Amino acid sequence: MRLDFFTLFPQWFEWFESQRHVHNAVAAGSELRYLDLRATTPLSAGQVDDSPYGGGAGMVMRVDVIDAALQAAYGDARGGRRIVLLTPSGRMFDDGLATELAAEPELSLICGRYEGVDERVRDHLVTDAVSIGRYVLAGGELAAMVVADAVLRKLPGSLGHADSALEESYSSALDGDPEYPHYTRPPTYRGWEIPEVLVSGDHARVRDWRRARSRERGGPREDRA
Ligand SMILES: C[S@@+](CC[C@H](N)C(=O)[O-])C[C@H]1O[C@@H](n2cnc3c(N)ncnc32)[C@H](O)[C@@H]1O
Repeated sequence: MRLDFFTLFPQWFEWFESQRHVHNAVAAGSELRYLDLRATTPLSAGQVDDSPYGGGAGMVMRVDVIDAALQAAYGDARGGRRIVLLTPSGRMFDDGLATELAAEPELSLICGRYEGVDERVRDHLVTDAVSIGRYVLAGGELAAMVVADAVLRKLPGSLGHADSALEESYSSALDGDPEYPHYTRPPTYRGWEIPEVLVSGDHARVRDWRRARSRERGGPREDRA
């Protein structure tokens, strides 16, 4: 996957790229780029924002600044590239969307700042608007890292054990339910025991127990009898 981050703070991503599964994804062929919006702004003195029409607090990131950054990176040849604007009012990010994005060969993530981004970016320049939750962060960088983390760990070679990403919370392997509980040594700690079934050696019982705990955690659902 070719993954581009458009940001005012490329240095934020140094820590991100040093994380093992991200490093592994790069070693396995993924390419990550961090594109500084100030480097391509058509305005003088590195300006990227302006005051909002209609008044109000804060500054808004300009559409011509985002357009110039996309032009510099791709020209007019955007093909089928998914270009995602991070915004609290976007489509809620979940495992289904992570799986969808992980299948893309090329993905761009645009990080907003200040009061947000001129709405014409959403209307004309991106393919998706995505939110990581119903709360407001100071900027899109952490949101982009959340999306990229969830996407990259689904790529082959990213995780030490490829199977780790298959049967996880909200995956289709668990029918969209949260994952079951895990335990490791010691078997007894301060009187707290592990479930006996996990050391029974009976794989079918273990599987059934895990599935039941996972469903319990998922709670009642309309699509369940
Ligand atoms: C301070 S926020 C702007 C919030 C905006 N005024 C609002 O009320 O929706 C600045 C930037 O952070 C990013 N951001 C903040 N919260 C986010 C969230 N929950 N999901 C995705 N991006 C978020 C977006 O890129 C946004 O443009």
